[in-house]
Amino acid sequence: MVEIEGRIDSKWIHSADPPQLIKERQIDGKSFARVAGWGMYVPSRVVSNDQLVQLGVDTSDEWIRERTGIKQRHLVSQGEATSDLAVKAGQRALDVANVRSRDIDLIIVATCTPDHLLPSTASIVQDRLGAVHAGALDVNAACSGFVYSIALATGQIESGRASNVLVIGADVLSAYIDWPERSTSVLFGDGAGALLLQSSDEPGVLSATLGSDGSGAGLLIIPGGGTRLPPNGHTLGNGDHHLKMNGRQIFRGATQMMERAAGAALRSSGLKPEDIELLIPHQANQRIIEAVGRKLDLNPEQVFMNVDKYGNTVAASIPIALCEAIEQGRVKPEDHIMLVSFGAGLSWAATVIRWGTPLPVHRPFYVRFKQRLGRRFSAIRSIWRRWRRRLRGIVERFSSNGSAL
Ligand code: ACO
Repeated sequence: MVEIEGRIDSKWIHSADPPQLIKERQIDGKSFARVAGWGMYVPSRVVSNDQLVQLGVDTSDEWIRERTGIKQRHLVSQGEATSDLAVKAGQRALDVANVRSRDIDLIIVATCTPDHLLPSTASIVQDRLGAVHAGALDVNAACSGFVYSIALATGQIESGRASNVLVIGADVLSAYIDWPERSTSVLFGDGAGALLLQSSDEPGVLSATLGSDGSGAGLLIIPGGGTRLPPNGHTLGNGDHHLKMNGRQIFRGATQMMERAAGAALRSSGLKPEDIELLIPHQANQRIIEAVGRKLDLNPEQVFMNVDKYGNTVAASIPIALCEAIEQGRVKPEDHIMLVSFGAGLSWAATVIRWGTPLPVHRPFYVRFKQRLGRRFSAIRSIWRRWRRRLRGIVERFSSNGSAL
């Protein structure tokens, strides 16, 4: 972790030439990244294991529960995309932190299922949240994407380039599932979760470690749709746009990857396993989660699990689990929480967070009213900006037709 000697203050100044607003920071104290807000959103459509069987998947509720621990998953409905889930989770995190969207400096959306190849999903989220001063980018590190994004956000805050960073993990992997293929279709669900990271004098994110082994790239892959196999009739006919997975090999490597990442994050935070009050591992499979807990010498009560309700929601799995842990009262001020993940890439990541935010957060009715009003305003502004662009395009087309005549 990089510690900056100095305290960070932000103020807006006018530069002379060209005239524009520049955010100037003065460093005269320590700056850390702490969690100030959290939120999650899952689509309303719940599909149980038995419903998958009724839909024609050659599997059984018994097999899925026994081998994975999954009982049900939430799936998007027609027309619902990753940004729709991300915006809702992000809004909730802002509400908890009581931070206005115009005060966000950066939005990072961890996703491997963006709305489009371009623009980034983060830009769409930025517009819909009304985060008019925020930069926006997507991070694709599959299931490790959320922890990767926390590491990046922390770097921005610790270096003094940002005060409020909204980190969202959101995925709709159901769009890439070959439903009759039982080895993958029973595992995944859709959802989004978010944290608002804020600069603080108190330490919050204590350490983060990231890793990758691209020699395992083929173990979990959507082969078509990128530059290696651009989409065409042939790739579609071959089903190259569907997720392919070597479940056994991933299973074997998962515990090792998470153990390695967790060990490195613990060492750099200066803590011992017994100092960790709660471990929130990537929610892929109950057996993997239990094995990681055992490897790290943690009691089952120290390991959070909700894979039964949501399945594997990819980059959203850790923030969704964290939100549920908070809701269940399993996170207390001053607790040390470890987030650890693994996924396609292969990739892995872990972070240790000291929870400083007082819980529970009470928002009086007038604050909630103001926040709702702010959201409506952002939505109207976003619609207005889109229509203004469309109108400008129509006017330009007419005027260029006129000049051509
Ligand atoms: N229903 C019924 N039977 C099934 C199913 C199913 N859904 N899936 C597989 N089987 C059968 C197989 O055909 C096989 O039958 P056989 O013995 O007659 O050949 C048998 O069950 C055992 O198959 P395995 O693949 O050995 O089952 P395993 O116990 O390994 O469990 C699983 C499979 C659940 C996929 C496991 O390997 C796993 O969880 N792997 C990790 C996957 C993972 O976490 N992926 C996400 C990574 S994160 C990211 O970046 C997205």
